[in-house]
Order: sequence, then C-alpha cells, then structure tokens
Amino acid sequence: MEFRHLRYFIAVAEEKNFTRAAERLHMAQPPLSRQIQQLEEFLGVELIQKGTRPVSLTEAGVFFLAHARQLLDQFQELKTMTQRIGKLERALSVGFVASTLYGLLPDIIRRYRERHPEVEVTLHEMTTVEQLKALKEGRIDVGFGRLMSEEPSIRRILLREERMVVAMFPGHRLASEEGSLRLVELVGEPLLVYPKAPRPSFADQVLAVFTTAGLVPEFVSEVRELQIAMGLVAAGQGIAIVPESVQGMHHRNVVYRKLEDKHAFSPIFFSVRNMDRTQELEDMLAAVYSIYDDLAIPHIKEQL
Ligand code: BEZ
Repeated sequence: MEFRHLRYFIAVAEEKNFTRAAERLHMAQPPLSRQIQQLEEFLGVELIQKGTRPVSLTEAGVFFLAHARQLLDQFQELKTMTQRIGKLERALSVGFVASTLYGLLPDIIRRYRERHPEVEVTLHEMTTVEQLKALKEGRIDVGFGRLMSEEPSIRRILLREERMVVAMFPGHRLASEEGSLRLVELVGEPLLVYPKAPRPSFADQVLAVFTTAGLVPEFVSEVRELQIAMGLVAAGQGIAIVPESVQGMHHRNVVYRKLEDKHAFSPIFFSVRNMDRTQELEDMLAAVYSIYDDLAIPHIKEQL
C-alpha cells in the first residue's frame, strides 16, 4: 500500500462518485477503479459497498477513511515543518481575522518586529476556517482567529474572551441612550451578520448568542465581510454585533453600545501546527502576552 492509495480512496469517499473523484485527481476513471481494487485486495477487506450509488463505505471503509485523513495531514505537516526548519532566513507568516486589525494586532506585530527585526513577518487577512487550511498547507505559521475547531493537526491556545458590542448608526432609536443594551431589545432589529462564507464563521457565533438566550432574531442579513457590515450599519440599513476591538475602526457614522449578556463574548485563539514549537512562535506568543500585561488585559498564560 502506498500513499497515493490513501489520496485516491479519500477522493472517492468524499466525492461519493468515481467519475468526480477521477476528475478531482486529474486521472481517468478506469485506473482509479483499479487502484481502489488493488487497495482492497492488499487489505483483504471491502472498503466500498458493492453496487451502491452514490458510493457508500463499509464499516472498515469508514474506519480507513478517518485514519487515512490523519496520515495525510501528518504527512503534509512533516513536509511543511521540515521545509520550515531547513530554511536559512527566519520568517513568520501570520493569518488574522479582520476584526483583530482594529484592535491589538498592530501593537502586537510592532512589538514583535521591535524585538525581532531579523525575522521577516508577513500578514494575511483570512477567516478562521481559511486559516486552518492555510496552516495545514504551510502558507501561514500562526493564525489569530475566533472559532473553536476540533482539527487534530492544529493546536489552539485561547488568548482571551473579548466582549461583543452593538454597532448602529447615530440616528438609530437605540443610540439615543447610553449604557448597555439587552439582547432581547435587538430581536426585532434588522441584524447584519458576517462573513457569509466560509461557515462556520463569526456570523454563527453571533446567532448562537441569541439561541443560547432562547431568542431568535427576526430579520437577519448575511454579508460578505466586516467592512461591508459596518458600511451598511453607517447607512442605517441595520445593526451589527461585533467584537469590542472593532470600535478602533472609528467610523464617522457608527456608534457602539455594550451588550449585556453573559454569553456575548468572542474568543481569540492562537492556532499553530501541532508539531510546530519554533522560536518565532514562542516569541510571538510572548509579544501577545506582553501587550496584554501593558494594557492590564486579563488573560490566561499558556506555554506553546
Ligand atoms: C487581541 O485582541 O487579543 C489580539 C488581537 C490580535 C492578535 C492577538 C490577540
């Protein structure tokens, strides 16, 4: 059995169809079918139920699929890490969700650059889901995101829980008062959530806050990204629930009120590849904690 058999089997299992799997693998269908047959002969068990359309897996096939995926992830990680360690120049590629750019990300990156001018830092805006893929493929080395994921090849460190606030246009009826708003007051308001895709996303985190409180927002519009949501808020098209740090955006036509709900918090995670314990990452984590200490932001300190 060779690595290519794992890739072929995963493609067939995911596409549930030999023709589509062959297209995805850029090969013809008959050799793909032969390779799967070879794999079953080698293992001495059937992985695919005979004569089923769409393709369905046997119990052994389901087991094999889960472990084949893990092996391929490990293989990819081994390749990425070896290339990273073998590189002479020091570099750190950072993925971040847009909201962090209006909060502490610039301070953290500046602190890191001051302390480590020899490291070439590059920044890439992407959703948390995109960060996981980019980490696995070696396109970034660390991701600052907001969603929890159970991806076994990725290690996450929870940095802190950030409060959510309500953004609205200054002429909005809820903007005339100060102080906190309760979630129940927002149920009948047009609510803008982002990003629309890929899911799950911050949009689901916001909707979950309502669900957990036993509430259903009546008018929800999904928009592509944070900047669009804030532009529409400024235009009076609706309200948005955003992390507190977005207030750093200082939009002329947007005001914010605190949201009073014990679940209205959004976590910020530091995500890295499981095996990655390089100095650059330790130093980046130290830069985050040093900014938190300077600003007296409560947080949990974890080791890489
Ligand atoms: C924060 O706001 O806590 C944060 C932002 C970007 C990177 C790390 C932490």
